[in-house]
Amino acid sequence: MSKVIKIGLLGSGTVGTGVVRVLKENGADIAKKAGAAVVVKKVLVRDVNKKRPYLEDVELTDNAQEIVNDPEIDIVVELMGGLHPAFEYMMEAMKNGKHVVTANKDVVAQMGHELLDMAEAKGVDFRFEASVGGGIPIITPLKECLTGNRITEIMGIVNGTTNYMLTQMTEKGSDYAAVLKEAQEKGYAEANPAADVEGLDAARKAAILGSIAFNSRVSLDKVSVEGITHIEPADINYAKELGYVIKLLAVAKDYGDKGVNVRVHPVFLAKTHPLASVNDVFNAIFIRGNAIGDAMFYGRGAGSLPTASAVTADIVSETRNLVSGTHSMVGCTCYNHRNFCPLEETESSYYVRLHVDDEPGVLGRIATAFGESGVSLKSVIQTRKVENHAEIVAVTHVVQHKHLQMAADILNGLSVVNSIRSVIRVEQD
Ligand SMILES: NC(=O)c1ccc[n+]([C@@H]2O[C@H](COP(=O)([O-])OP(=O)(O)OC[C@H]3O[C@@H](n4cnc5c(N)ncnc54)[C@H](OP(=O)(O)O)[C@@H]3O)[C@@H](O)[C@H]2O)c1
Repeated sequence: MSKVIKIGLLGSGTVGTGVVRVLKENGADIAKKAGAAVVVKKVLVRDVNKKRPYLEDVELTDNAQEIVNDPEIDIVVELMGGLHPAFEYMMEAMKNGKHVVTANKDVVAQMGHELLDMAEAKGVDFRFEASVGGGIPIITPLKECLTGNRITEIMGIVNGTTNYMLTQMTEKGSDYAAVLKEAQEKGYAEANPAADVEGLDAARKAAILGSIAFNSRVSLDKVSVEGITHIEPADINYAKELGYVIKLLAVAKDYGDKGVNVRVHPVFLAKTHPLASVNDVFNAIFIRGNAIGDAMFYGRGAGSLPTASAVTADIVSETRNLVSGTHSMVGCTCYNHRNFCPLEETESSYYVRLHVDDEPGVLGRIATAFGESGVSLKSVIQTRKVENHAEIVAVTHVVQHKHLQMAADILNGLSVVNSIRSVIRVEQD
């Protein structure tokens, strides 16, 4: 095989090293599958003197121009992370006629449309399979394999750190602080875990998934975000008792004429739901389409080799196109402008945990507050005494979020209510 496609990597840390390794170890097969040998010509790093496994014979540079302006490089693979200068480098590479592959969910969620517009203007491809779900194929399946469907719903466990933490809290009964410390010691959580535990990482992926699923751009600021920092062992225990597990979900739902809603929040998920058994750092994305019905994609959502698997797939697809002198027929798929259904209009059943005065008649006043707000209760458990309060747990029937908020406002104003400890959505299977 004589044809060689040269690629340049912008960044070679966890994922970049994995990509170089996969291209080396599986290179012979990849060349046969792609119709050309894929050769890493140059790699951008900050520190060119650092020793790097698998990159001993690859040229390093700290000057991005040597890659984005190199006429021999056909594909630029951005694996440095962050918005800037990653965005500018990718734009410049495309202006120079290069195809671009990235794993960067920050930049895809916030500036994806500009990158896709540039790709279209220049007749090149912009691919980002690894930006959601790490090694799990999900962008290409949504854009290509499921394109005959109208997608009505996506629910995803798309953040391994929080899934690990919730799994440990469920299995070991540990509290949030202890489990976060353990996740940091194991390298699953960053020293500053905010983006994971406050839900922002999942929100970026939700925005990407929602945009593709509904063929309508979902900007990150439209995604409502709630993380797991307020989840207490009591919530985990009630979930178990009632037949649920708590999961942090990225949700994208089509509410018909009301529009679409995309959000991230913890849920009480029925133990029988396919996502309920997705544990530890694993990710999974559950999709409902009007032709396929339900489908679920499961696997490792991060890590050097799993993420490299997705990045390499994009590189191979692009190499095939280069060999056959074409480029992808699937560019930006956001041809619609769907309205955004406000969170208040969305519907769910809710779990509500309250601390109240331990005196006769309180339960009646609580039930009245729910009733006045149009929230009907499915079940109420008054289980235990907590310090000098009683703890009440209620599960509502399906109600609009605004009615639940109304009930919370009334409850907060009642002298007998000490605090609303938790409000968590409930998802049946
Ligand atoms: N890690 C995962 O499991 C995972 C999973 C899915 C997606 N992703 C995404 O993949 C991307 C890369 O993640 P990673 O974990 O591989 O990151 P990483 O380990 O921090 O590696 C970043 C690489 O980029 C280089 N770099 C960063 N800023 C640079 C700059 N301004 N100039 C030159 N070089 C620069 C670094 O150089 P030095 O080596 O010299 O510092 C390093 O080689 C991110 O967008 C991330 O969100 C990661």
